[in-house]
Amino acid sequence: MKHLLSPLDFSVEELDQLMDVALDISKNPEKYAQACKGKKIATLFYEPSTRTRLSFEAAMLNLGGNVLGFSSSDSSSAAKGESVADTIRIVSCYADICAMRHPKEGAPLVAALHSSIPVINAGDGGHQHPTQTLTDLMTIRTLKGHLDNITIGLCGDLKFGRTVHSLINALIRYPNVRFVLISPPELRVPDYIRQEVLKANGAFYKEVTQLEEIMPELDLLYMTRVQKERFFNEEEYIRMKDCYILDKKKMEYAKKDMLVLHPLPRVNEISTEVDRDPRAVYFKQVQFGVYIRMALILKLLEVEVC
Ligand code: CP
Repeated sequence: MKHLLSPLDFSVEELDQLMDVALDISKNPEKYAQACKGKKIATLFYEPSTRTRLSFEAAMLNLGGNVLGFSSSDSSSAAKGESVADTIRIVSCYADICAMRHPKEGAPLVAALHSSIPVINAGDGGHQHPTQTLTDLMTIRTLKGHLDNITIGLCGDLKFGRTVHSLINALIRYPNVRFVLISPPELRVPDYIRQEVLKANGAFYKEVTQLEEIMPELDLLYMTRVQKERFFNEEEYIRMKDCYILDKKKMEYAKKDMLVLHPLPRVNEISTEVDRDPRAVYFKQVQFGVYIRMALILKLLEVEVC
């Protein structure tokens, strides 16, 4: 039985196969409409979510399966003190696969250790968000045509932004990917990402604080929101929250084919006027998220569709 706790749980070849299936799903949805008939996914969300939870549910429904779950810890027995280990033992009796989001880093790993069904990490604290990474890879591969030979700018809250940590971990495996890390000094990537991922793999990276001046170099700009829920101090959040705002003026510095991605939700960091720019692909990204999660469910449940 396989789980997805980190993007590194799949080889580059497995990721390619997953994206091939997702592409086929996007072209032939009817072929997959009954693939998971009789199967159930449990969405165990101890933290708020719109996209990840609903896209997992939409993915399973699109495959002919069913969904159950909870959308906050308050509406589950976690509120009475039940542990993640006990919860997953129970859910293993009700569902065939589960997606878990939790504010504590490592909670999905604990679940996987006690589970008899595949566990998908749907975001654990400020650590990892592997299915957002699958979505991001699918978006880049489909719209750019390749995942190698790119310069990607990652901008905003690189300290707490789990989507950034997972994406760097995944992209490091493709040749000639250059990382430009754009953040205020207070929100730089954690040192383990710098030392154990970027430096350890000999990746090209640079850390800058200004967005405008780096824009002309980028093939991709991955914007992120400042993660309010991870700050201990509200004053510090308020000081940081508008540190970068991408607007039409800044887009003028970008290449004609630079793509703007964002895992969403957006707060202020991308002005809504940018939405009309054809290079803004963050809403297309959401649709790719459903196809890749459908492909992931099929893979983890070992369902083959001919
Ligand atoms: N991208 C993402 O994880 O969005 P949600 O928090 O709405 O699931």
